[in-house]
Amino acid sequence: MNTKTATDHDILQRAAHDHLLLHFTRNGNFGPDANELLVLERGVGPYVFDTKGRRYLDGLSSLFCAQLGYSYGEEMAAAAAEQLTTLAFNTNWATAHPAAIKLAQALAERAPGDLNKVFFTNGGSESVEAAWKITRQFHLANGEPGRTKAISRDIAYHGVTLGALSFTGVVNMKAPFGPPAIETHHVSNTNSFRAPDGDDEARFCARLLSEVEQAIVDADPETVALIIAEPVQNAGGCLVPPAGYWPGLREIADRYGVLLCADEVIAGFGRLGELFASTRFDVVPDLITSAKGITSAYAPMGAVVVSDRVAEPLYADKQTLLHGITFGGHPVSAAIALQSLEIFERDGVLENVREMEPYLAQRLQSLRDLPIVGDIRGAGFFWAAELVADEQNTRFDADQRERLLRGFLPRRLLEAGLIARADDRGDSVLQVAPPLICDESMLDELVEKMAEVLADAGTFMALDA
Ligand SMILES: Cc1ncc(COP(=O)(O)O)c(C=O)c1O
Repeated sequence: MNTKTATDHDILQRAAHDHLLLHFTRNGNFGPDANELLVLERGVGPYVFDTKGRRYLDGLSSLFCAQLGYSYGEEMAAAAAEQLTTLAFNTNWATAHPAAIKLAQALAERAPGDLNKVFFTNGGSESVEAAWKITRQFHLANGEPGRTKAISRDIAYHGVTLGALSFTGVVNMKAPFGPPAIETHHVSNTNSFRAPDGDDEARFCARLLSEVEQAIVDADPETVALIIAEPVQNAGGCLVPPAGYWPGLREIADRYGVLLCADEVIAGFGRLGELFASTRFDVVPDLITSAKGITSAYAPMGAVVVSDRVAEPLYADKQTLLHGITFGGHPVSAAIALQSLEIFERDGVLENVREMEPYLAQRLQSLRDLPIVGDIRGAGFFWAAELVADEQNTRFDADQRERLLRGFLPRRLLEAGLIARADDRGDSVLQVAPPLICDESMLDELVEKMAEVLADAGTFMALDA
């Protein structure tokens, strides 16, 4: 039952407008004289409730984080309470604490290949920054100080701190902040939808890989330090790689002495049905960056998992790892991450994703019947519908995207009780990534709500034309 008074709701709306700066948001869009801000205060299973008691299916797992949904609070609170009443805090900065040590061991045991060393952070951007510093120290130790450049992909999002922002390939997020800290060469991502050879997986893959190799050659191979890419790229709309792509990246990286980092900030911790997404693509990268789902969002945390080979120089006589973050691997976050891992294994969370993926995929494919849907793509519990203007898959222009993605869809999705992401960092997409505990009926509800909203979106855009 909703016990909140309207006054609580209104006071929060006012205070949010007066004091809270919203991330990646047009802050002026919200406030007492503008749009109402979605303020969520409670969650159960995959559902969240706002300050008026309205229920939403969280089809985005709170920005790809809430792997377990919202009903494990008591268990997580018990793990946190035990840690807080034993030792509230210690760093991993020349000392350590049992929770970080146990979590590092648990992750190393589950990571592919010889990825046995773990550096903890507080989130994704920090993980990407740490991966870069470890990469640089590796090359320096091997007498290759000239390896200062990186390869990443168009439209990819790798975070916004100034180092990570260099790798991010979303041009308008970078432009105001000057030259990138790290020289980065961006290559094509794995979007096959409009690619001329997109239907021929082998040819498409070969072309993408030869572009990566050419970028390394053009940059001068002895100056390239790192290739960083997501197993399935988020920005652009769940871009699944063609078969052979990741083993191909591995081969190219090895040929030129470049390290390979899989950025699993979204793709990891079950989103694709594996704890480490690289496993799904038959590759053992040199580094894996993680965050978001590592604690199922019951606390903030990130991690870089590093291979023995790459970490080796850090153990040499008088060598110091020249990177540190005060709260990286906070005991409470580590205790919660351990609890989350235990729940994953006890409650068969990965198994649920693997079992449900074909059903979800098949249900989502039915959305292709709607004229506004041009493509459905994704894997695991991570999917996008690409939205198009007509049967020829014409892209919406900037004005249409403004009306559809920033006007119509956010409002209509909330009316339908669904949280999903309308995005046009690449082409126009509606993305969903439900909590990994969703059963068939919850996935039905997700797809039905998407169908309802997208049908209306089609009518809206047709009337608007
Ligand atoms: C692939 C990837 N890398 C890095 C980041 C940055 O993570 P954070 O927002 O936790 O800094 C994100 C965030 O969405 C991401 O998707």
